[in-house]
Amino acid sequence: MAEQKATNVTWHNHAVSKAERCQLNGHKGAILWFTGLSASGKSTVANVVDHRLHQMGKHTYVLDGDNIRMGLNKNLGFSAEDRAENIRRIGEVGKLFAGAGVLALTAFISPYRKDRDAVRALMEPGEFIEVFMDTPLEVCEARDPKGLYKKARAGQIASFTGISDPYEAPEHAELRLDGTKPIEELAEEVIAYLKSKGLI
Ligand code: ADX
Repeated sequence: MAEQKATNVTWHNHAVSKAERCQLNGHKGAILWFTGLSASGKSTVANVVDHRLHQMGKHTYVLDGDNIRMGLNKNLGFSAEDRAENIRRIGEVGKLFAGAGVLALTAFISPYRKDRDAVRALMEPGEFIEVFMDTPLEVCEARDPKGLYKKARAGQIASFTGISDPYEAPEHAELRLDGTKPIEELAEEVIAYLKSKGLI
């Protein structure tokens, strides 16, 4: 939990409510929180879902691991503490998107259960959809699109998730995707879930 540093601050309610924004958009706002190992397919599936939803006229936005780490979170590394702060900030940003009536798709390893649960706790029931990209480490390592597993095995990257740092798999994810299946099939599973819950 981050400390509240500023004093003498007051919460202001918006003149336009979240419900009104969602009504205008024609669908709910929510966070689709993809979690999984590096190279598990989080970003790829999130981007296919994003594209499909966009074509269906839905308002969406992808917050993606490496991009956010090159901007908003450029001052954070990969210690447990920095990862927690990374996830906390992304959760708050995702909450703003959801409040704007947008479906935010986030693609971060987010290896710690308590960090993901803290984001869940920020949201209203049903607004946080945890999507576990369940891809075996061997498969991620064989893919190794950025050559990072190779480096980690060679001891050139410290605290690399799955190799020398933990990954805590979700126990109650809303959706579990088998990362060895074709991407289009996985994207379809996500869309079907959103429809089944009346989110789109
Ligand atoms: S998280 O753990 O804080 O959620 P995040 O998803 O933002 O991680 O960033 C992960 C990406 O950073 C990986 O896909 C990889 O490209 C890169 N990376 C660099 N160093 C590490 C590391 N030590 N562990 C995991 N990923 C790393």
